[in-house]
Amino acid sequence: MNTQQAGHSANQRSLAVAVVGCGYWGPNLIRNFYENDQAELVAVCDLDPKKLSKIAKRYPNVLTTDAYQDLLNHSGIDAIAIATPVHTHFPLAKQALEAGKHVLVEKPMAMNSKECMELIALAEERKLILMVDHTFVFHGAVRRIKQEVDSGALGELLYFDSVRINLGLFQSDINVVWDLAPHDLSIMDYIVGKAPRTIHATGSCHAGNGLEDIAYITVTFENDLIAHFHVSWLSPVKVRQILVGGKSRMIVYDDLESMEKLRIYDKGITVGEPESDEQRYANLVGYRVGDMMAPNLDLTEALKIEIGHFVDCVLNKQRPITDGQAGLRVVQILEAANESMRTGKTIVINSVGVV
Ligand SMILES: NC(=O)c1ccc[n+]([C@@H]2O[C@H](COP(=O)([O-])OP(=O)(O)OC[C@H]3O[C@@H](n4cnc5c(N)ncnc54)[C@H](O)[C@@H]3O)[C@@H](O)[C@H]2O)c1
Repeated sequence: MNTQQAGHSANQRSLAVAVVGCGYWGPNLIRNFYENDQAELVAVCDLDPKKLSKIAKRYPNVLTTDAYQDLLNHSGIDAIAIATPVHTHFPLAKQALEAGKHVLVEKPMAMNSKECMELIALAEERKLILMVDHTFVFHGAVRRIKQEVDSGALGELLYFDSVRINLGLFQSDINVVWDLAPHDLSIMDYIVGKAPRTIHATGSCHAGNGLEDIAYITVTFENDLIAHFHVSWLSPVKVRQILVGGKSRMIVYDDLESMEKLRIYDKGITVGEPESDEQRYANLVGYRVGDMMAPNLDLTEALKIEIGHFVDCVLNKQRPITDGQAGLRVVQILEAANESMRTGKTIVINSVGVV
């Protein structure tokens, strides 16, 4: 381990953090922990020495190591953020919790719900914070949608419809559902706040490795609420769009829009009550077309807010918004989607409950 003195803003109420994994996503966690006033980035671990040397150059006061055990043994580290490949989340998070460290683990939380449950139980037993990086939950647009839904402005929810497609980076260990859908499933979990009833998914693999690169997932809830997710690494264009439809209003969230990411439409249908049997077969649907509003959004980087939330939860012993249960709910849907794609069946989900 590089033994230079760690820390840039030590004070009594600061949380000493280490990050494991500094590939594509890890450096974003590293930067945000480094810049957080209440956190002290103590160490970074990666198996790849080239990635470590980049970090050492950028953050000369931070310890760097290729041995995860160094982080576990370091008594000055309170929390570990895990940004390594998905199959390593469970063993690394488990070891961290067993070593008495709070954990922020990347999405998806683990490879299956059994692993998620084991981590949740371990964190509870040791009274440690376990949070999952569901970054979009902290995005200004998503928080605004949640506000609109919770205030009742949308009326009863009818549907959640999401498209996340592009010519994506084919992953070698997970399919497109496990790579891309956690974002949208976590947004849905946060906004809808209800336990799903059934999952049906279809997908197709074109790379010869058995991992689906295009998939469609349908999730149903009580009261005819329906959600649909289209994820693909095989699209020539990039689309990042979510529609949330309520009886009173409907929202379109286009993450690629720079000016009007969120559009709230005062549009909908009215369904008349039939007065006679003949009318029952007539078209009783009327259309309501009102204004569109594009609200001003909080443009703060979602990860900055999220890292602040994690630090705050640990220092003040609060339950994170995206806690282990939220991670588990997302993994349960991913698991069910895989099962449905393999068997062709609709999976009735034995959910862990309402948010
Ligand atoms: N929240 C988000 O928006 C978001 C975005 C992208 C990726 N991710 C998640 O971040 C995680 C990492 O993805 P990535 O794209 O950065 O992958 P990556 O392959 O670019 O980086 C992973 C890094 O982990 C290191 N590593 C692997 N095993 C290790 C071990 N045992 N000890 C130490 N280092 C180890 C590798 O050397 C590599 O540098 C994944 O879980 C992914 O789902 C999240």
